[in-house]
Amino acid sequence: MIRLSNKKILLCVTGGIAAYKTAELTRLFKKNLAEVRIIMTKSAQEFVTPLTLQAVSGNQVHYSLLDEEAELGMGHIELAKWADVILIAPCTAESMSRLAQGRANDLMSAVILASDAQLFIAPAMNVKMWEDKVTQMNLATLKSKDVLFIGPDSGEQACGDIGEGRMSEPDFIASKIAESFTSSLLNGKKILITAGPTKEAIDPVRYLTNKSSGKMGYALAEAAYLAGADVSLVSGPVNIIPFNGIKLININTADEMLAEVKALTDQIDIFIGCAAVADYKPVIFEKLKIKKTDDEEISLKLIKNPDILQYASDHMTDKLVIGFSAETDNVIENAKIKLLKKNLDMIICNDVLNKEIGFDSNDNEVHLITNDDVIKLSKTSKLKIAKQIIKSIELLIKT
Ligand SMILES: Cc1cc2nc3c(=O)[nH]c(=O)nc-3n(C[C@H](O)[C@H](O)[C@H](O)COP(=O)(O)O)c2cc1C
Repeated sequence: MIRLSNKKILLCVTGGIAAYKTAELTRLFKKNLAEVRIIMTKSAQEFVTPLTLQAVSGNQVHYSLLDEEAELGMGHIELAKWADVILIAPCTAESMSRLAQGRANDLMSAVILASDAQLFIAPAMNVKMWEDKVTQMNLATLKSKDVLFIGPDSGEQACGDIGEGRMSEPDFIASKIAESFTSSLLNGKKILITAGPTKEAIDPVRYLTNKSSGKMGYALAEAAYLAGADVSLVSGPVNIIPFNGIKLININTADEMLAEVKALTDQIDIFIGCAAVADYKPVIFEKLKIKKTDDEEISLKLIKNPDILQYASDHMTDKLVIGFSAETDNVIENAKIKLLKKNLDMIICNDVLNKEIGFDSNDNEVHLITNDDVIKLSKTSKLKIAKQIIKSIELLIKT
């Protein structure tokens, strides 16, 4: 369940007996490093106190739609945007009915209506309530809206009846949520990704670098890992903590990056060169700080750095080699030239003059270029772009 780490789970608790199990469910999510926020309906608070769930989640519990203070903090729209997934556990017959009707008369239903996040429902109710025609119609309506159901299980119920309607056990629900974050597109594949800038020292206190933040490379590493790959990330200096489970190798210079890439060449199936490697480095590294002189001008002599993408293309002929191209003009044409010149399987290019999608921004908009195709991925978060790139890589593997 390690793949739950960093994931934002919005857990909604409604008024059923099984509400007592949500403390254990929350504990499981937290143990697996997920971030959990909780919404409770009015009835849910009769079954378990907000204080209990606040203590286990480590966050204040949300329960009121019309609360000025809550709206000033994390209001209903913020909660809707915050969530990676929304889970209702337990979900009563009443809540299923409200959601099937598209109501927004309490915090939970308003947040769900306003959110793009995948909704999971773990129903819990008496067998007769579950089998009731209207409940079954609500189930069908919600399924048609792509809501995913976990359970219910069959067995003895709190009321003594036997049949379908028990909420699934917390560990089963947690594992289903974890599964939703993983795909098996790259199961068993070994991927090497380079990310971030390189830092080429001039003297002990100065260096040449660039504006790369590493966000795209780290997002790709996360997406590849979530797709089942074994991911090694060779990264220049950035301020990002990689997703749990990714093997991080820190470097500073292009030479160091090349050495790490060389060491892994025989062990990988796919290479993605996303790092912004400095094209040139100072010819001489001055061991002592260069002193200011009376000269108005001084020169810094530069020498070409190794071309790591070219190395990968030349030495990984039986593997997929994918490069990035940060361009400021003739974006697609220049990228196509690079694709051919470096004999790559795919090049991903973007316009780094555009501040909304270029270096250091959270969003990106790219073109994926292969010998046969040019596909535009419209502007969205770097993680969403990364997931789409991973899907395209899977298609490349198949063809
Ligand atoms: C003791 C008790 C247990 C209940 N258990 C359930 C239950 O397991 N499932 C269910 O659908 N409703 C159950 N109900 C009824 C709900 O609490 C009621 O329909 C409530 O309005 C649900 O509101 P909510 O969905 O907004 O939380 C129970 C009621 C009581 C008094």
